[in-house]
Amino acid sequence: MSDFTHLFGRPPAVAAHASGRVNLIGEHTDYNGGFVLPTAIPQRTEVFFAPRDDDRARVASTLSSDGQVQEYRVGQEQRRHEWLDYVQGLTWLLGREGHAVRGFEALIRSDVPLGVGLSSSAALSVSLLRALRQGFGLELSDVQIALLAQRNENEFVGARCGIMDPMAASLADQGTALFLDCRSLAYERVPLPPGADLVVLNSGISHKLAGQTIPGGDYNTRRAECERAAELLGVPQLRDLTAADLPRLEALPEPLNRRARHVLTENERVLQAVEAMRAGDRERLGELFYTSHASMRDDYQVSIPEIDLIVELARADSDVYGARLTGGGFGGSVVMLVHAGTGRPVAERIAAAYARQSGRSPAVLVPA
Ligand code: GLA
Repeated sequence: MSDFTHLFGRPPAVAAHASGRVNLIGEHTDYNGGFVLPTAIPQRTEVFFAPRDDDRARVASTLSSDGQVQEYRVGQEQRRHEWLDYVQGLTWLLGREGHAVRGFEALIRSDVPLGVGLSSSAALSVSLLRALRQGFGLELSDVQIALLAQRNENEFVGARCGIMDPMAASLADQGTALFLDCRSLAYERVPLPPGADLVVLNSGISHKLAGQTIPGGDYNTRRAECERAAELLGVPQLRDLTAADLPRLEALPEPLNRRARHVLTENERVLQAVEAMRAGDRERLGELFYTSHASMRDDYQVSIPEIDLIVELARADSDVYGARLTGGGFGGSVVMLVHAGTGRPVAERIAAAYARQSGRSPAVLVPA
């Protein structure tokens, strides 16, 4: 806040924020029209904002290495292949949609770690959209905000990601999971089961370090493989398959058969996870985490040995019900379901064992 005043010579008019998310289960199902189950994490992105009377946009962020104010003209947005594209893309989109957006000053602060599967970019787009909505009095619902955030990534930033992360940033809260149908966008908030806590461990390997820009590289390959599999099976999206279709997948060439099997079984697991949560069945939910992880590792092939190591360390710990890679993969974070009240010690002993065996620097994000 005082940084804003220091940078721009006046106090902010608006403060907005959006949280990072951890997906409990339902990975790589969103762009196949399927189901997901994310929940908000305590880490978040904050935007301090004040409208201007001209078209100058002046933005500073803790995301940039030098913290300098960057500038562009609203209505003359141009891609620069850096974080400012997220800001420029939003004013570009809002302008195209007929919303009256002018210049502004903004300071962005975030403690959502970048590139480790916790949706830092959706938190950025959604927090900015909330600031723009409030600052310019725009008529936008929370679902419209999520859809604009996704279009920002797809159409301006140039990333083909799905709708899960923007919907989570816009609608999820802590304590409940957002059970979302990514085709109809129907959603319901399902309470986390009593008697269990969540742990989120950052492996210290971002998808950039693992040679990926997500969505890009192998992420886009996976999407294309899913589209091809659906085409060969004669369905609009892999979402349209059920367990009864499993034998049909054998006719697909490698690796399309595996990719389709992951999506089909993962969608079923989301439905089973919601049932387990409603029944308060922590053991069952934990088992589904492990099965989901195996499917991402063996069929979807988006895990890495370090992440598999964390999941194995969790499996050997009697306080853990289940663990799995969360987010897009190729590095990232692991989500665990653990006995209530044990989150901190479990996270610390698994992090310590992992650091020792891998030489990496993990970080415990939940419990915060
Ligand atoms: C990334 C994408 C999401 C989703 C996940 C995998 O986070 O942004 O749309 O596809 O990967 O579940």
